[in-house]
Amino acid sequence: MTKLWTCVIVLLVNHVLSETDEGGTTLSPILPQKPLTCVIGAGYSGLAAARYLKEFGQNFKVFEASSNIGGTWRFDSHVGYDEYGAPVFTSTYKYLRTNTPRQTMEFSGFPFPSSTPSYPTNTCFYKYLKSFAKHFQLMDNIQFNSYVQSVKWVRNHWDLTYTKTDERQNYTTECDFVVVANGQYVKLKMPKVPGMNTFKGKIMHSHDYKGPEPFKNKKVLIVGAGASGLDLVTHLVNITDKLVHSHHLKYNQPKFPENFVKKPDMKAFLSNAVIFQDDTKEDIDVVICCTGYEYDHPFLDKSSGLTLTGKFVLPLYQHVVNIRHPSLTFIGIAKGIINRMLDAQAEYIASLIAGKFKLPAQEQMLKFWLQHVYALQDENKKIVDVNLVGPKMDQYFANLTEEAGITRAPPVLTDIRDFNAKYRLEDLLNYRDYDYELTDPYHYKRWHNGGGARAQECPIDSEPEQQKI
Ligand SMILES: Cc1cc2nc3c(=O)[nH]c(=O)nc-3n(C[C@H](O)[C@H](O)[C@H](O)COP(=O)(O)OP(=O)(O)OC[C@H]3O[C@@H](n4cnc5c(N)ncnc54)[C@H](O)[C@@H]3O)c2cc1C
Ligand SMILES: *[C@@H]1O[C@H](CO)[C@@H](O)[C@H](O)[C@H]1NC(C)=O
Ligand SMILES: *[C@@H]1O[C@H](CO)[C@@H](O)[C@H](O)[C@H]1NC(C)=O
Ligand SMILES: *[C@@H]1O[C@H](CO)[C@@H](O)[C@H](O)[C@H]1NC(C)=O
Repeated sequence: MTKLWTCVIVLLVNHVLSETDEGGTTLSPILPQKPLTCVIGAGYSGLAAARYLKEFGQNFKVFEASSNIGGTWRFDSHVGYDEYGAPVFTSTYKYLRTNTPRQTMEFSGFPFPSSTPSYPTNTCFYKYLKSFAKHFQLMDNIQFNSYVQSVKWVRNHWDLTYTKTDERQNYTTECDFVVVANGQYVKLKMPKVPGMNTFKGKIMHSHDYKGPEPFKNKKVLIVGAGASGLDLVTHLVNITDKLVHSHHLKYNQPKFPENFVKKPDMKAFLSNAVIFQDDTKEDIDVVICCTGYEYDHPFLDKSSGLTLTGKFVLPLYQHVVNIRHPSLTFIGIAKGIINRMLDAQAEYIASLIAGKFKLPAQEQMLKFWLQHVYALQDENKKIVDVNLVGPKMDQYFANLTEEAGITRAPPVLTDIRDFNAKYRLEDLLNYRDYDYELTDPYHYKRWHNGGGARAQECPIDSEPEQQKI
């Protein structure tokens, strides 16, 4: 009799387990509730976290402010706020192509179809993210139009409060773990120049640039020569009346048409013109500030135990774990890394939550962190950038792998990143006319792909929009 009951219970439990494998939330009342992991953001990083949490059988929920996945790879025609009043976080624009080979951006074990160009369009990258979410059946775990407002540590868990923007209601969820994946490029940095508020033309940030059409026949000033500044110059130079580029980057500037003018940094604004550091003046209709982004974590407060500014988040162990409260983790704080690294951080976090490895004692983590910070000091004892991984990326991959037993990304990805960064500045107009292929973990091939229409190829099965509103 008892044996039979045991058998029935085992069957029941198995049944409940396999059922919840699909849809994903409660195991109660038969089993005690599994810890809940709350992921903030369903961009590349949040999706990577969701994939591993699912693979490792964890109970989790993703909170996404917008109405779809994809983060900055999802084009949104809204400027500022979406139809439900949530901020538009995506920065992508028409005709954008990746500025890094896709091979450095792929999720582990989920490559693009091999015939995809190495620098796909943003719509192709978005399709890729959708096919990823579909393949790993992540959509049911993602709650859309859920804009996280606050995450507070309360005794032994995190109270996550979000606005369900389409309902105009606030809700609070108790989370055992929180994974912050809200993106690295969130808060807009704007230059401060005398006279800026007297300027009669338009001043905007590249974040709000959606495409070239509004700039046709205009006198446009592009400020900055980071990834966005350089890209927008190439998108606008042939359609504007005049294109002024103010920056101080040293690079092999292509031969632009005659309407192009290079200028040093800005000095002052007049009502219809801008004066530059060399005291030259240019009449301007629109200024596009490609002056970059900062971190932004307005939903975290003192209870996190962290110091959070636009430039720094500290102290984090391995650039991921909040040392004060290790149940709060971050993806994408590390700077100067490839997307594949975000995937590794996600696997690290999910492995940690699933109990596959243990962190060192708190004191040890703090010691490692201090060693890392001291090693960053320059000869003037100035600490440079505590969240920068950049040149040490491959060693960082190795360290994560060693500690957590996660998948080691091929070292050649670092070489590809470094080559691309250099070559992009050598040949800005044509560097994307090449395809790459990894021949083994240490070597790659690269060849000219003919350019032209090749750029538009995207051999990913197109799925109908999975709108969840
Ligand atoms: C214009 C542009 C082009 C880029 N091109 C490249 C490239 O070519 N190659 C490359 O390697 N990298 C590129 N990047 C870097 C890019 O950030 C990464 O490719 C990747 O998108 C990072 O993913 P993420 O999930 O960390 O952040 P994001 O893609 O920004 O996603 C964050 C998500 O979090 C959500 N969110 C934010 N705040 C909240 C909140 N409070 N509550 C709920 N949800 C929230 C957002 O809606 C968004 O969906 C580019 C970035 C930009 C801005
Ligand atoms: C929800 O929370 C936000 C942020 O705290 C607040 O501004 C808003 O008024 C709240 N909305 C409702 C309906 O309570
Ligand atoms: C501008 O147009 C010319 C002529 O069609 C073309 O050769 C050139 O490559 C274009 N420049 C850019 C930056 O697209
Ligand atoms: C990797 O780990 C070693 C040994 O703990 C440490 O000295 C080094 O700074 C770490 N490097 C990176 C980039 O994390």
